[in-house]
Amino acid sequence: MTTAPIYEARNISKNYGSVVALQDVSLHVGAGEVLGLVGDNGAGKSTLVKVLSGVHAPEAGQLLLEGVVRQWDSPHDALELGVETLYQDAGLAPHLSVSANVFLGREVVKPGLLGKLGFLAQKDMDTRAHEGLERVGIAVPASKRSVTQLSGGQRQAVAIGRAVSWARKVLILDEPTNHLGARQAAEVLVAIRAAKAKGLGVILISHTLPHVLEVTDRIVVMRLGKVVADAPTSEFSADSLVKTITGVLDARSGG
Ligand SMILES: Nc1ncnc2c1ncn2[C@@H]1O[C@H](COP(=O)(O)OP(=O)(O)O)[C@@H](O)[C@H]1O
Ligand SMILES: [Mg+2]
Repeated sequence: MTTAPIYEARNISKNYGSVVALQDVSLHVGAGEVLGLVGDNGAGKSTLVKVLSGVHAPEAGQLLLEGVVRQWDSPHDALELGVETLYQDAGLAPHLSVSANVFLGREVVKPGLLGKLGFLAQKDMDTRAHEGLERVGIAVPASKRSVTQLSGGQRQAVAIGRAVSWARKVLILDEPTNHLGARQAAEVLVAIRAAKAKGLGVILISHTLPHVLEVTDRIVVMRLGKVVADAPTSEFSADSLVKTITGVLDARSGG
């Protein structure tokens, strides 16, 4: 898979005060490619996600979407141009229904197209939300149910389904299978494959290495704010991946 990257980060650095969270980090993802991003706690994965999605501005470096240098002033900028992110421990609005959560915030993002949604009959919205989630392989209970009636795993499934169904170019998932049971985690993998088939560039952050090895095309390993490996998934074994993450093995150089 050697197409031009759909999304690319070049030489990104980001500090929190005196903490260096990212140091000269570069990575890219192609259209229809699933990139795994792994590393121990504190490696900088979530910080990188927040730079890629416009939450944090980096101190140095560039972001290129479809080859065009972009600067995000807010997450809405990135969303507007098709970069959809599910943040680690992202929540849903508990007082709203499933379908309301699926459509939440879209009016702000795309006033031209989706401003109309405000006038959609509730029933239409429920139907569309349900279809949207089913299309990406997420089995969700009735859309008109309140989120308070869902289990933690079901809420997570709705959040993932929302991200997958709205993403237009890039989908970033920060530890989406945390707190999920085996069956729901398997659904997430199905959704990731659906996103890949749709031609999205997918970045998957996960500590569940068997999932990463199963669903990704390429893996970037981070350690202490730096990329220490970037190679096709087929070049890793479960053992070599763990060793690269922990620093026992430094066979591959990052780039
Ligand atoms: N809001 C923050 N303020 C200060 N330090 C932070 C903040 N967020 C993360 N860090 C620090 O930045 C580093 C990278 O963290 P993070 O990006 O969350 O790593 P990961 O997601 O790989 O576990 C860690 O040293 C962490 O303590
Ligand atoms: Mg994290």
